[in-house]
Amino acid sequence: MDYIEIEPNQKPNGKVRISGAKNAALPLLASTILSKNSIAIKNLPDVVDINTLLKLLQILGASYTKEKHCIKIDGSKINKTTATYDIVKTMRASILVLGPLLSRFNHCEVSLPGGCAIGTRPVDLHLSALEKLGAKIEIKDGYILATCKDGLKGANIVFDKITVTGSENIIMACALAHGSSTLINVAKEPEVVQLCKVLSDAGVDIKGIGTDTLVIKGSNQKLLDFKDFTIIPDRIEAGTYLCVGAITNSALTVTHVKPEHMISIIEKFEEMGYGIELTDDTITILPTKEIKPVHIVTTEYPGFPTDMQAQFMAVATQANGTSVIDERLFENRFMHIAELKRMGAKISINGTTATIENSSDRLTGTKVMATDLRASSSLVIASLIADSTTTIDRIYHLDRGYEHLENKFKNIGIDIKRKKYDTK
Ligand code: UD1
Repeated sequence: MDYIEIEPNQKPNGKVRISGAKNAALPLLASTILSKNSIAIKNLPDVVDINTLLKLLQILGASYTKEKHCIKIDGSKINKTTATYDIVKTMRASILVLGPLLSRFNHCEVSLPGGCAIGTRPVDLHLSALEKLGAKIEIKDGYILATCKDGLKGANIVFDKITVTGSENIIMACALAHGSSTLINVAKEPEVVQLCKVLSDAGVDIKGIGTDTLVIKGSNQKLLDFKDFTIIPDRIEAGTYLCVGAITNSALTVTHVKPEHMISIIEKFEEMGYGIELTDDTITILPTKEIKPVHIVTTEYPGFPTDMQAQFMAVATQANGTSVIDERLFENRFMHIAELKRMGAKISINGTTATIENSSDRLTGTKVMATDLRASSSLVIASLIADSTTTIDRIYHLDRGYEHLENKFKNIGIDIKRKKYDTK
């Protein structure tokens, strides 16, 4: 098993090129199930989650060729409809094949994703919306068995809660349905917006893109004529590297980004006293004389993303005062706290709220364990200001979502090494 070692007292400088967004690429790749042609996609991130979904699509019958960050993928020959547990258990987002498979083939069998480290994360909203579209859903032996004899039929759907992959699944289902659907309380994350734009370019009539109400005219099960496209930048990866600059109080620039997707994140850096410089596609964080405490409430886009909460918590350990972070989306997304505390952070939890006191100085390097994707990145960030070497175990979590992390870190002057435990 791999682990990483980070040397103490790091001072990064320079620029980090941000990759394509994993959370945009996942639904976009799933949407190729709806295509009648081969599609060239640029800026595909090279991370484990993407390779997992590609493996699943290949098992279903899709073919692709990949070179660096470009993929040419043909979903038109897909002829299987089962997503098995062995793949779905490794990545919850595999559920994204449910909507498109069902709307194309009138039946599919997708393993239930089960629990995950950051909570129970049910898929009830995906399923009830599909039922509204006329699907019959049965849960048997851990599988979702979905059928719709004559295809999905357009309907009005109100999401009781805003769900990102739930919205994406249903948007893809509606794209091939018979008739028109109105979706209310839809997620507005940039990743959802790009999915809508790509489907719209492929000929689907979608009104309200970028708002929480979409009207989608289905294609009556005619496969779609996709155009080539480029995946949007990863706003969470960009925010994570800006936290690297923040915790070390160093100037750092992220490039190939869309600052307009990151307003809530930028605002929190400013609240903490950091200078921020923007161009059309770069963000630079500048050091501050005093790191001020911050108050964060995680919420749906355009609010502050839950996927940035753990990284800001690491930074908040260095603030001159008490910070408060309220996690409103997931019930169990504080697992990094136990590890940060082992590094000397002073954090207490009350329900969904974490209170972070100033750790007065450096954190202590020690052996810590990554628990989920973003929790892992908070440990990496914390380790940069530790007073001794930090070892982080279970870094496969990082590999799921951060492309070439060590190279990117080395390029900005950080002493980080990936090592393997000697299992002999
Ligand atoms: C997506 C992102 C993830 C991010 C999250 C919230 C991807 C691949 N993953 O996850 O990185 O942290 O959005 O921004 O894009 N819920 C239900 N029933 C459902 C579906 C969701 O109760 O059927 C609840 C969840 O438990 C959670 C909330 O809704 O409390 C939001 O979850 P959701 O937006 O669905 O998260 P994901 O799409 O899984």
